Amino acid sequence: MAMAIKELQPQPTSPVQSCWRKIVTPLPVPASVPLIERLRAAEPVSTSGMPPILWHEAEGFLVRDPFGNQWIDLTSGIVVANTGHAHPSIRAAIHRAADKPLLATYSFPSKERLLLLEKLASLAPLPDAKAILFSSGTEANECAIMLMRRHGQRISPDKVGILSFEGCYHGRTLGAGLSSGTSQPTDWIQRERVKHFQIPFPLGPLCPWGCSRDTPCDESCFDRCIDELAQRDIRPEDIAGIIVEPVPGWATYPMPAAYASALSAWARENDILVCFDEVQSGCGRSGRFFAFEHVGIVPDLITLGKGLSSSLPVSAVLGPRSLMDQPAPGDMSSTHGGNPLCAAAALANLAVIEDENLVEASDRTGRLVLEEVKQLQQEFPQHMLSVHGRGLFISVHFTRPESGKPDTALADAIVHEAVRRGVLMFVTGRGFLKISPPLNIEPEAVLEAIGVIRGCFLELKDQPA
Ligand SMILES: Cc1ncc(COP(=O)(O)O)c(C=O)c1O
Repeated sequence: MAMAIKELQPQPTSPVQSCWRKIVTPLPVPASVPLIERLRAAEPVSTSGMPPILWHEAEGFLVRDPFGNQWIDLTSGIVVANTGHAHPSIRAAIHRAADKPLLATYSFPSKERLLLLEKLASLAPLPDAKAILFSSGTEANECAIMLMRRHGQRISPDKVGILSFEGCYHGRTLGAGLSSGTSQPTDWIQRERVKHFQIPFPLGPLCPWGCSRDTPCDESCFDRCIDELAQRDIRPEDIAGIIVEPVPGWATYPMPAAYASALSAWARENDILVCFDEVQSGCGRSGRFFAFEHVGIVPDLITLGKGLSSSLPVSAVLGPRSLMDQPAPGDMSSTHGGNPLCAAAALANLAVIEDENLVEASDRTGRLVLEEVKQLQQEFPQHMLSVHGRGLFISVHFTRPESGKPDTALADAIVHEAVRRGVLMFVTGRGFLKISPPLNIEPEAVLEAIGVIRGCFLELKDQPA
């Protein structure tokens, strides 16, 4: 793809000037290249791969570099800034907290932590809910996995297995990595040796049992998964819990209700817990506060992160007292979990989501965007495997017309070209575009960005990879 900015070689751009987008330099900006090169020398290559623009300011749904360029942000960071970047209420709350001589409290009693925990417990539709705070989504998932394994062990020493789903992502540490179904994080672990098992996510076009774009997976697909596990000698008595994204970040497609209901019934019958990882899909992203509201079942445990603060590192596990109180005092805590600044940021963020009706905004604006992108799919069905989304959580999966395989080169090239035209997306490397702007983005701005994506697609779709 000739147009992709893959290297740090500045390429001329056509000037862009709209109400929101401004491109006034070649990209990458020549003056930014030495700094980006220093970053590349200082960091492992694993952190490169995003378009080489120098973030200087991010405010609302706009990202700016220090050279006069400005982008409409469809990333929200990486699905973090649900209330927009640097929301004034969140900045003010952080300022207030930072001005007080109290910057770390560990698990000693503190009012800041209490207020956030009570708020979270009130949001969770769980009986007798408690919450615990961490810094990253990964840590929250590790904690949930630990709680599920402890629960299983109370029933039988062998009941420690965890079931997760291909394609989903839960983090990079051992337990979270084992749960992730993306190939990269787990090729260094032998999953089944530590009783970790995976089944396909029920997405019609990828269903191994013949469902399709038009016939969604249902309870029979779940039954087939369980039969296959049994054939591999994996029994429900070996399984303590299931971890899954109810609307996975890669598919942005809710687990079908019939499938979810079969899963929930099987889990209940067999004393298996269900944890919904809402680190990415939660806090209004999907047009509901919790994405599992699209799925029709309530889990035993919920993990949150990212959009919980829209800013500083905060994550949480929510669950009923009976599960949360399994570890003894001192056995489940985190040095920085509930840090006063982070707790203040999260509380302010949750207030903004409510005060600005951002769950509804996500649903409303998301519908407009989905309609627009589906239109493109109808025009070019041979290039698009699927376009899915709930709220402002939308993905566009490209396929190569001749092979039906994911068209990673096209998706990534569109990202790079869109950046040159003032629209910011991240490179997924998995053949899809993710549209996940701040929930308070102006509808006209996101529709303008979709117009830019359309232009990039039309120009790049027939170029050789
Ligand atoms: C669904 C999901 N779970 C967990 C994580 C891990 O969160 P973190 O990167 O904060 O550890 C992510 C991050 O992308 C995620 O999308």
